Amino acid sequence: MADSVPSRPALTVPLPTARLVLRAVQPDDDPMLTRIWTDPDVRRYMGGPLSSEVVRHRNGDFVGKPGKYCVTLRATLEPIGLLGIGRDHRSGHLEVSYGLLPEHWRRGYAQEAILALLAWAFERLPDADVIVANTRADNAPSRQLLQAIGAECVESFGEGDESVMYAMARRQFLTPP
Ligand SMILES: CC(C)(COP(=O)(O)OP(=O)(O)OC[C@H]1O[C@@H](n2cnc3c(N)ncnc32)[C@H](O)[C@@H]1OP(=O)(O)O)[C@@H](O)C(=O)NCCC(=O)NCCS
Repeated sequence: MADSVPSRPALTVPLPTARLVLRAVQPDDDPMLTRIWTDPDVRRYMGGPLSSEVVRHRNGDFVGKPGKYCVTLRATLEPIGLLGIGRDHRSGHLEVSYGLLPEHWRRGYAQEAILALLAWAFERLPDADVIVANTRADNAPSRQLLQAIGAECVESFGEGDESVMYAMARRQFLTPP
């Protein structure tokens, strides 16, 4: 049966939050994207830096793609990271993914961006009762972030580098009318 929710839903962008703007990825985001894929700290729990050939292909693939968003600072429009929403083929749920440049960590930006994306998704995607996030079990910053937004750790999976899946339920994020 065909998905009733597309695998890469399209957020209505630009989407402003208090301190950020989420927008489509643009060709001139290339330097930020390249750092996201190659910075050893950003890639620490994701298998390390990617090769330049993979980076080149991936950057081009992200430009204008539904479900892939650039996180920018509202005050300066500086691009500071990436936010994604797409189908998690393992669980079948929609999944959020995220990564910011290290100089912008620990300021609440990831939390602010993800909460805005979740509010939009639960409001606009009627079939999305649960949205998940997968992260390596030893990725403490990512797990702290997910716990801070109220996500619940529901499953461990994977061999070798163990991963965990967190779930966020619509009822937590939308106030009933
Ligand atoms: C995970 C990541 C996006 C967090 O971004 P961030 O903007 O620093 O997170 P926030 O500032 O919004 O913090 C959210 C919560 O997590 C906590 N947190 C964030 N980083 C932390 C760390 N290194 N250690 C402990 N707690 C941390 C914050 O204290 C906050 O909790 P609180 O509201 O209870 O204080 C960032 O570390 C990152 O880009 N990492 C590399 C990419 C990555 O691993 N992505 C996940 C792949 S699955």
